[in-house]
Amino acid sequence: MGKCIGILTAGGDSPGLNAAIRGVGKAAQTSYGMNVIGFYDGFRGLMENRTIALNAEDLSGILTLGGTILGTSRDKPHKMQIGNKVLDMTDVMIETYHKHHMDALVCMGGGGTQKNAFRLMEQGLNIITLPKTIDNDVAMTDVTFGFDTALGIATEAIDRLHSTAYSHHRIMVVEVMGHRTGWLTLGAGVAAGADVILIPEIPYDMEKVAEAIRQRRRYGKHFSIVAAAEGAMSKDEAKDLQKIVKMMEHAKDKDERSEAEEKLTKIQNRRVDHTLKISQQLEELTKLESRVTILGYVQRGGTPSAADRLLATKLGTACASFIEEKKFGVMVASKGDKVEAVPLKDVVGKRKSIPHDHPWIKSARSIGICLGD
Ligand code: F6P
Repeated sequence: MGKCIGILTAGGDSPGLNAAIRGVGKAAQTSYGMNVIGFYDGFRGLMENRTIALNAEDLSGILTLGGTILGTSRDKPHKMQIGNKVLDMTDVMIETYHKHHMDALVCMGGGGTQKNAFRLMEQGLNIITLPKTIDNDVAMTDVTFGFDTALGIATEAIDRLHSTAYSHHRIMVVEVMGHRTGWLTLGAGVAAGADVILIPEIPYDMEKVAEAIRQRRRYGKHFSIVAAAEGAMSKDEAKDLQKIVKMMEHAKDKDERSEAEEKLTKIQNRRVDHTLKISQQLEELTKLESRVTILGYVQRGGTPSAADRLLATKLGTACASFIEEKKFGVMVASKGDKVEAVPLKDVVGKRKSIPHDHPWIKSARSIGICLGD
């Protein structure tokens, strides 16, 4: 009898997930004679043993679909909400794995999923992961699938904002997804010719941003496009955050830790309307009218780009071959033209932020885009 493998998708959905499920599934069946099952809704479906057969006919016609046919959730195996309790359900998941006599479990997701998958690996399961997220912030891979599609959507949106900004002589502040890193904002901002780009990696000084806009006006440009990442923060906010991170690192007991966590939640809640605040501050400082556009979930929806379909298929099919070779405890990563199996322990707990000397940052600066610093 052939090997049996399971697939789940966890974390925020991302274009290219179905292409990846299809890539793993078809290669596993066609090239290696494996049986493939899917688990619904991420780690919750694994816990509840909610499965779907993924035979050839189930995998047909899904390449171009957005989202994930398996459904997803942000549930964590060791902290699962069960009624009004939060419980460690890892053992139940291990039971499901053995019930199906599985030889491997494929977990597709971003940074959080890599961590959760690693925990299951530590419990002795044969785990292999794929890196997906529109944020492109998973460590040890050049790129994640979903990013290219979202980049295209955000770029087109900023393109479209230009004509209305120009006609009304307004500042257009556009919020792009990315709560921890600014890949999407920087990429779309440079590609669409934003005048100001604000990303979490470079805390901003609002006066510098306002001066860049005033300067444009002096040169006869009466409109400006400001692309701001969800996680963009001012220099003061960055300092506050730094303090809390230190507090959390040095917390002596549970009480100190929960005090720090409470402070962090307060800061995060305060930040929900921060793009609106950027817009208001710029109106005050420049005396120009400003409007806000929040791109939100539009960036995660719809059909994947050709590049994402290719990447997801490349990683998915390589994943099947790694399973055949019994390479477990790894993430299937894209490195240049190659696909590599990177040990999960080298991926977890890290985030791929934009280095300050990244070519996109250098290019942005050299054509006069203001990065707020
Ligand atoms: O992880 C991708 C991402 O799109 C972030 O950019 C965003 O902040 C987050 O997901 C929001 O996702 P959700 O509301 O689904 O948890």
